[in-house]
Amino acid sequence: MAGASIIDGKEIAAQVRREVAAKVAERVARGRPAPGLAVVLVGNDPASEVYVRNKARSTREVGMGSFEHRLPASTSEADLLVLIADLNARSDVNGILVQLPLPKHIDPVRVIEAIDPAKDVDGFHPVNVGRVASGAKALAPCTPTGCLILASSVQADLGGLEAVVIGRSNIVGKPMAQLLLSANCTVTIAHSRTRDLPLVARRADLLVVAVGRAEMVRGDWIKPGAIVIDVGIQRVAGAGGKGRLVGDVAFEEVKAVAGAITPVPGGVGPMTIACLLQNTLQAAEAA
Ligand code: GUN
Repeated sequence: MAGASIIDGKEIAAQVRREVAAKVAERVARGRPAPGLAVVLVGNDPASEVYVRNKARSTREVGMGSFEHRLPASTSEADLLVLIADLNARSDVNGILVQLPLPKHIDPVRVIEAIDPAKDVDGFHPVNVGRVASGAKALAPCTPTGCLILASSVQADLGGLEAVVIGRSNIVGKPMAQLLLSANCTVTIAHSRTRDLPLVARRADLLVVAVGRAEMVRGDWIKPGAIVIDVGIQRVAGAGGKGRLVGDVAFEEVKAVAGAITPVPGGVGPMTIACLLQNTLQAAEAA
């Protein structure tokens, strides 16, 4: 057997961005203002800097307005809440994203709850969390939405599949499980306290892994033919001391057993920003 087919997240994300760009152009041609996305970065975490730069570039590329707010790590929670109130009130800002993690002295829950749910393009506000859970129209979190698009590119109807999500974060694992449930999967959420994780993983027709542990999922955890979506990305030491990017899945081993698999990089990663742009357009159209 040739092993799994590789799910090309880069190409699928480019396709989503092209669709968003076309809809933005159509909206502007109707005489409506271009959608605007505000990204707030507090402090200078290097990984966050890269994400924020990429978000701003992609936002402009699809014809949207990009507003970047870079604040020092010493910014008080009160000052951040004032900025969010300003952004909530601005008609040229349709989406607000506060990059996480925030410095320790700022409570992320208070910040997320201060964002107008109609502008919460991350889908982290309790109103959107609740709407996703009840299957209502919502701004859904970007990474799990991207994972769903990738899985659906392999099999358009996921209904009836045994789906196992490893990881229970608010950003990925929990909303992923809700979206898969809405797509009519039978859903299991596994995590660090799950007994016999390999056994649970092996029952998955669709396995989504978001744990942040390099190459944790091995080849013998995989049901032959399964769809495997790898949300993890981290740099580990590689040959020649150069370092290489790996996911939560041992790619070569799993590829030999799975039916389809996302690579790292070039799998889930590019989908997150594409879905963020989709959410920003959705927020603008609903405004
Ligand atoms: N940090 C890591 N992932 C995310 C995300 O999806 N949104 C925000 N705001 N911060 C993040």
